[in-house]
Amino acid sequence: MKGKIYENMLLRRRFCKRVALMLTVFALSFYASVLLFGGLKGPQVMQLTDLNRCPACYGVSVCPELYSDQITLETSQWSMFNAKNIFYGYTKSNRRLVLKKLAHDTEFKVFDEKICKEFNLKENCKPVELLNTSNIDDKVLKTVEYNITWVDTEPRKGLVLCPYAYSLYELLQPILNSRKGNYKSEMLNIWTILNINPEPIILQVIRKVDGWLVPPYGGVCGRLEVVGYEGKPLSELQHVPWYRKLKYAQKILDAAMDFTFKHDRFRFYLMDWSLDNIVANEKDEITFIDLEDIIVLDKHILPKGDLPNWYQRYSRESMGPGFSFSIENMCKHHLSDHNLWSACYILAGDENPLLYPMPKEVNASKPHFDRLLNACLNGDDRFRTITKLQHVIKEMLIDKTVLGQGIR
Ligand SMILES: Nc1ncnc2c1ncn2[C@@H]1O[C@H](COP(=O)(O)OP(=O)(O)O)[C@@H](O)[C@H]1O
Ligand SMILES: [Mg+2]
Repeated sequence: MKGKIYENMLLRRRFCKRVALMLTVFALSFYASVLLFGGLKGPQVMQLTDLNRCPACYGVSVCPELYSDQITLETSQWSMFNAKNIFYGYTKSNRRLVLKKLAHDTEFKVFDEKICKEFNLKENCKPVELLNTSNIDDKVLKTVEYNITWVDTEPRKGLVLCPYAYSLYELLQPILNSRKGNYKSEMLNIWTILNINPEPIILQVIRKVDGWLVPPYGGVCGRLEVVGYEGKPLSELQHVPWYRKLKYAQKILDAAMDFTFKHDRFRFYLMDWSLDNIVANEKDEITFIDLEDIIVLDKHILPKGDLPNWYQRYSRESMGPGFSFSIENMCKHHLSDHNLWSACYILAGDENPLLYPMPKEVNASKPHFDRLLNACLNGDDRFRTITKLQHVIKEMLIDKTVLGQGIR
């Protein structure tokens, strides 16, 4: 009898072990498949938006479209390896879209860990509790402030609004006016955007419909931003014929001038100029797609004693090789040639310049083109040089003989 019970126990134990083993194998293969191929049913919008983090999120303007299947996600990009957190989708009318979380998962983690402390709430506070806090306006201003008197030695990321941070209300006017919601939760959204990535704010201030070379802004939902897909990065288009690169160059120089001069009130100094952050479509139109690091300068302030040289121009000094700049100097002068130098640097600087190698025919027939590009990099009046460069490029694009055989 005892032997029988013992045998049954053994059988049961063996059975349990097998079930556990099977469950483990199943769980492992399920996890591996999710890891390699994404979710079983493809991307789930709900997983991307993190709506439960609101109001510590970007807003909810595009949620209706996302949740009513007006926007469909492409499955191919969905994978746990998508560290950049960029997803693609399309509208019912087949307009391709980019869905950007705007930060890496690790950055969100750091951000979420600091929120409660930042607002003096208990550890592990819930996001809704943020609505009970006061002085959100001060916090927002502090995020974009740059102290021109006691300069920070820490490198700055995100949006810097200078010389005085209170100009932020002017900058936000088009955004706050168009919303009819609760002021506090709107300001919490703005605080979150400014702490994670200011792109949704910038795209509503300088809009594609007004002629800025930025993506069309679709809106935000939770921690997801929706923008139009505008083409491939120029860094992936190094193989195209040179005359097409010249077309991109023309538009890059125009954009550098626009970011500096076009807005009535502000200058936009882009801090991350690179061929990865400019895309081009099949019509050779270009778009600046990464607006995370940016200095916005209010050109209409009344300079106080802390800005003795405000009305002088600041020209980028030689700061050693590579891409370096001085936020302090840009913030202390009403006009700086930062965008112009940066544009010339990606066209003709040391790292993978777009226009080099230059076709022999161009060098032979337009030797001053190369000289002008050099003057833009190393000379002292970039505003004048850029105007000349724009003129020469225009001429070359009209004059088909320069771009003749072998270059097209
Ligand atoms: N509007 C867009 N159109 C086309 N591609 C885009 C767009 N926005 C982002 N991308 C693609 O996603 C990549 C990463 O986006 P980006 O905003 O530059 O983020 P990161 O901070 O990771 O550099 C880009 O290099 C580009 O390939
Ligand atoms: Mg980028």
